Amino acid sequence: MLLPGAVQCFIVSFMNKSQALSANRSYWNAVSELHEKAGGVYYNIPAILDGRDTLFQHENAAVGDVEGLDVLHVQCHIGFDSISLARRGARVTGVDLSPVALRAARQLAERCTTPVTFVEADASELPASLHSRFDLAFAALGVIYWVPDAEVWMRSVAACLRPGGRLVLVEYHPVMAMLTSLDPPLATGSYAGSGPCVVPWQGTYADPGARVEAPTPVTYQHTLGTVVTAAVSAGLRPRLLEEHTEADVGDTGTAASREGDGRVRARLGGGALPLMFTLVAERAG
Ligand SMILES: C[S@@+](CC[C@H](N)C(=O)[O-])C[C@H]1O[C@@H](n2cnc3c(N)ncnc32)[C@H](O)[C@@H]1O
Repeated sequence: MLLPGAVQCFIVSFMNKSQALSANRSYWNAVSELHEKAGGVYYNIPAILDGRDTLFQHENAAVGDVEGLDVLHVQCHIGFDSISLARRGARVTGVDLSPVALRAARQLAERCTTPVTFVEADASELPASLHSRFDLAFAALGVIYWVPDAEVWMRSVAACLRPGGRLVLVEYHPVMAMLTSLDPPLATGSYAGSGPCVVPWQGTYADPGARVEAPTPVTYQHTLGTVVTAAVSAGLRPRLLEEHTEADVGDTGTAASREGDGRVRARLGGGALPLMFTLVAERAG
């Protein structure tokens, strides 16, 4: 998830949503500039220019065949997965809050000679011009954690789907956001969350050593129950809810680590905790 250093979160209930959104836009503008140069497992520009697909294992499994589909990539960041989905034959629109991320995404799509449309918008208030246009809304790895109200986000995303269209949400498990350390075990966050929270992170998940010159961003903890209930309330029918105790990424910015077999797990003693989850839900006809 976006815990570029699993450290304690401080509740900032005095901050209203628009102040939080503004802080987050500034934060993501700064981080997007860093991620354009980050390289590594997340944002390897030479590899994507060379044709490499960037969806990770659980994203790949849930998305399936997208050939010929209209796909909305929610919180698309600097466009890596948007480009990968377009290369698989989808017509892709990426949306994000950060104009700097979108500038980077447009430039990268152009360099990849892959057509993608990018739109600047708050994912919780997606514009009417995007409504009822998509077969698939794809959102992954560090998305719902940034929105104050999971139901408002779900309604906004669901409105963009055609009847029968699917939401694929692959996200870090909320248990991970509680944990500051696994050895020794230390949970400084609350599972149920309680208001907007700031985490004085250092670095980012894709560039742990970076110095981010921006306001501290504001995040929100949503339980798995809150997320699934939000989807149902927004008129989406859950088709699959899977919790993953291992993944191919996720060892930066979380308390999880990569083990000898190359898989990332968050172990407490011997047992592996849930690291990510996949929710697939369909808009009713
Ligand atoms: C961790 S990144 C998503 C990573 C993405 N899965 C990828 O592959 O690069 C989170 C993105 O969410 C965006 N974001 C945060 N809050 C948002 C909001 N309210 N509306 C739209 N985008 C938002 C940020 O600008 C950032 O680009």
